[in-house]
Amino acid sequence: MRRFRLGLLMAAVLMVMSATALWAAEGKGSLVELHKGKAKCADCHGSGKKIAVDDSEASVNKGCIGCHGTLEEMGKHSKEEVNPHRSHLGEINCTACHHGHTASYVYCLNCHSFDMKIPAGGAKAAEKAPAKQKGKMRTEKADVVVIGAGAAGFTTAITAHDAGAKVVIIEKQPITGGNSMLAAGGMNAAETVFQKKKGIKDSVELMYKDTMVGGGELNDPALAMILAKNSASSVDWLTSLGADLSDVGRMGGASVDRTHRPKGGSAVGAHIINVLRKNAADRKIDIRMNSKVVKIVEDAKGNVTGVVVEGKHSGPYTINAKAVVITAGGFSANPERVAYYRPEYKGMTTSNQPGATGDGIDLGTAVGADVKDMKEIQIHPTVAAGSRILITEAVRGNGAILVNQEGKRFVNELTTRDKASAAILAQTGKSAYLVFDEGVRQSLKQIDGYFHLDLVQQGATVRGLAAALKVPADALEATIANYNKAVETKTDAEFKRPDMPRPLKTPKYYAIAVKPGVHYTMGGLKITTESEVVAKDGKPIPGLFAAGEGTGGVHGKNRLGGNSISQTVTFGRIAGASAVKCVKGVK
Ligand code: FUM
Repeated sequence: MRRFRLGLLMAAVLMVMSATALWAAEGKGSLVELHKGKAKCADCHGSGKKIAVDDSEASVNKGCIGCHGTLEEMGKHSKEEVNPHRSHLGEINCTACHHGHTASYVYCLNCHSFDMKIPAGGAKAAEKAPAKQKGKMRTEKADVVVIGAGAAGFTTAITAHDAGAKVVIIEKQPITGGNSMLAAGGMNAAETVFQKKKGIKDSVELMYKDTMVGGGELNDPALAMILAKNSASSVDWLTSLGADLSDVGRMGGASVDRTHRPKGGSAVGAHIINVLRKNAADRKIDIRMNSKVVKIVEDAKGNVTGVVVEGKHSGPYTINAKAVVITAGGFSANPERVAYYRPEYKGMTTSNQPGATGDGIDLGTAVGADVKDMKEIQIHPTVAAGSRILITEAVRGNGAILVNQEGKRFVNELTTRDKASAAILAQTGKSAYLVFDEGVRQSLKQIDGYFHLDLVQQGATVRGLAAALKVPADALEATIANYNKAVETKTDAEFKRPDMPRPLKTPKYYAIAVKPGVHYTMGGLKITTESEVVAKDGKPIPGLFAAGEGTGGVHGKNRLGGNSISQTVTFGRIAGASAVKCVKGVK
């Protein structure tokens, strides 16, 4: 008995010692350090037998919110113009920035270069190896596993759930949303209720034709047709979930206004992701962040039977499922891979979030999937110079022009991205200014964001703007006067710009310095029109589906602005329906 008590005492002492060691050794720059003396390990880790945190860190975040309030509430207290608690990322985990045992780091700094202070903040920590497997690997069961929580992933999951499937979404990043969260300009769709209300004459055939011409006819025609044909019903589907896509504008390469976004011209991606997140939460769909799929599992006959996941805290485990859908995006944020396919893009900035590294494509090829168009990589003409901030094409769509260091226009601003980017790279300094006036600013709400980010230079007159930019004032004045004449006569004799919605006449005048940046990877896993992943022998891999940027063929050599969100939602709906058919054994 005495020996037993002594053992208990020793165990208690050891536990206190190891907890103290944790506070002391791992605490620097972390939540542990910040809460020293105010909180106990159990506040985050629970007091059960196991010291455990779930991979999404949901329990820890509940604790943060319990004491500090929601992000929205935190944001209201802040007086700063740019505040991480009120960002386009929406209601994300506190632990995306405030880390438990390593130095905290503002997630936004992955893309922005703000001078943001974070309590106990430090440099970005090296990625931690996931927890090790102890004993036998645990196994779970679902009907459908979705890899990646961007718009394609959420759409697939919601569609599959609503058709009766048990769905799990696995996301490697600490937040959901993927690149879709950053989508700015809008969602292309033809023959929609919103176009009809505005008297815009469009057709599925015209959207298909624009998509094919924009893609240099390298597109898979069947996939491009699916995109166009289903685009209006995808807008209806999102609207039925609570999205607002009532504003319709134009992006490069489109023959008519067909880019849908929220009223006033707000960015489309953050809005749609918030709607999809809410719908997934309302349906109690199981979403696991900080979790990486490391392998797709097959049986001896080559049927996909599930995935192996590595959870940040829980370590490796298997999920058995009859259908797996890859919606993990492209690889624009993987500079080595971009340079491998396109050496000329080496060192170029990217507009993408850090998770866009192409892992989903690798998971597919590891089980024999074929790929298509891998070297077709899109550079977007207008990324704010020296940053990763995309300046949406919608600014040009609403009337802005591109001007070089000599104060002159040099291209049809509404041409396709490949051509606009090439034209900018041919100018002095391989850069340009995006020039607009107060009229354009008022027409598109998302322009306010560029002012908040301090990216805009301005002048009360055109000459004032020229002085701020240090470009020849006479040249800039002549350029704008000529452009305004073209607007009036509806003819741009010099560059053949097809749409000039307003003159540039209303002071103040504004400019943003821009350079092309890696924006989108057109290539990826080969799929059928049913979103089945195709193997090298041309046959679908049973049980494996894919949707979104990680697939190839929809866009050919060059994607039209606004076709990406459209693709994620349309093919996400198809992938969700196909996955459920597979689960139910219906062909
Ligand atoms: O310019 C943009 O707003 C980008 C949109 C897109 O890539 O579809």
